[in-house]
Amino acid sequence: MKIPVGVPDFDEDEVQQAVKVIRSGWVARGEELEQFEQRLAEFIGVKYVVTVNSGTAALEVALRALEIEGKEVITTTTSCAPTANGIIHSGNKPVMVDISREDYNFDVEQIEQHITPNTAAILPVHIYGRPANMERIMAIAQKHRLPVIEDCAQSLGAKFQGKMTGSFGEVGCFSLNINKVITTGEGGFIATNNLTIAEKARIIRNYGREVSRSDYCYTMLGHNFKFTNLQAAIGLAQLNKIDRLIAARRSNAAYLTSLLNDVPGMQLPSEGKGEFSIFFSYPILLQQPGIRDQLKEFLEQQGIEVRTLFRPMCDQPYYQKLMGKSQQQGSKSQQQGGKSKQQYPQAEYVGENGFYVGCYPSLTKEQLEYIAESIKEGLQFVGRAPLKP
Ligand SMILES: Cc1ncc(COP(=O)(O)O)c(C=O)c1O
Repeated sequence: MKIPVGVPDFDEDEVQQAVKVIRSGWVARGEELEQFEQRLAEFIGVKYVVTVNSGTAALEVALRALEIEGKEVITTTTSCAPTANGIIHSGNKPVMVDISREDYNFDVEQIEQHITPNTAAILPVHIYGRPANMERIMAIAQKHRLPVIEDCAQSLGAKFQGKMTGSFGEVGCFSLNINKVITTGEGGFIATNNLTIAEKARIIRNYGREVSRSDYCYTMLGHNFKFTNLQAAIGLAQLNKIDRLIAARRSNAAYLTSLLNDVPGMQLPSEGKGEFSIFFSYPILLQQPGIRDQLKEFLEQQGIEVRTLFRPMCDQPYYQKLMGKSQQQGSKSQQQGGKSKQQYPQAEYVGENGFYVGCYPSLTKEQLEYIAESIKEGLQFVGRAPLKP
């Protein structure tokens, strides 16, 4: 049996919507794009959505639309590189905070100690589809008068205390790439209640020019971050079934948990009080260090695709170099270069001992049972004999 870590959920509706747009000739801009932005805004519960061509672009656009430049932005060290890249591309420096081992999100207790006079924003990531504690994060942000930009690339539809991720902060940044809850192949968007931010975002994505003006007037430094009408058509078909897609992910996760609950030595994904996760994936943390890679190899030999949980970003060569450089510039909070073992013990442990398997809607009961059985078998196997002679 072959079980990939992610499979998009496309059917005839996506095909029909895409064909309709191709036949109309309006593949770049058009009605579907406007409708898609409006429907996303309604779904998230914000006034404005501005689509862009990736989640990475959304992060850069959000910071630039907020006019944050040359500052420090506090984020978590357990994320995908684009989180830090969005901060760097906007001309800012990421300042990384360790995570909580329980939910892999910000260790909220540690945020304040990283705030300096140069801090301009807090950027939580709702990782693996589980919402960060937005009540605590918003309270810290309000106390220090800092805007919050949420990285919701993996959390479209996740809620904290009944409110959608991406609607707490000044801006929410989302991805629509292939393994996300809904996908348009590639793509992303920002969500905000702030009209000025939405307008600036529209200018930045369009070479720095206001589309509504016919006099070709460039008011900002822009990119071509445009999302297409063809993508929007596919996105609309995806959005029509988002509730079902999320329900299926949640039910798959619940089934896997019921099958694995009695296996000792593993931390399974869970939901804290007031949290509604969309189970972007099914992350597992092994309590016995040093066996993850062998277990991963075993599962892959059974045909189950497995991904390791994110290594701390500050362990990655590029960010080590960058932070080493900023260390010389002397900011207390940036003295992180090459020190993750001491400074980020939780992120380090998770990066070395965590892995995830897929949790996507089309997984069958039989496949989920096969995944659970293989994990159990693999756990028995590891530590007993090396996999390869
Ligand atoms: C947490 C996180 N942030 C940002 C991104 C960037 O999104 P994109 O791939 O659309 O640029 C990703 C991408 O997968 C992600 O997982």
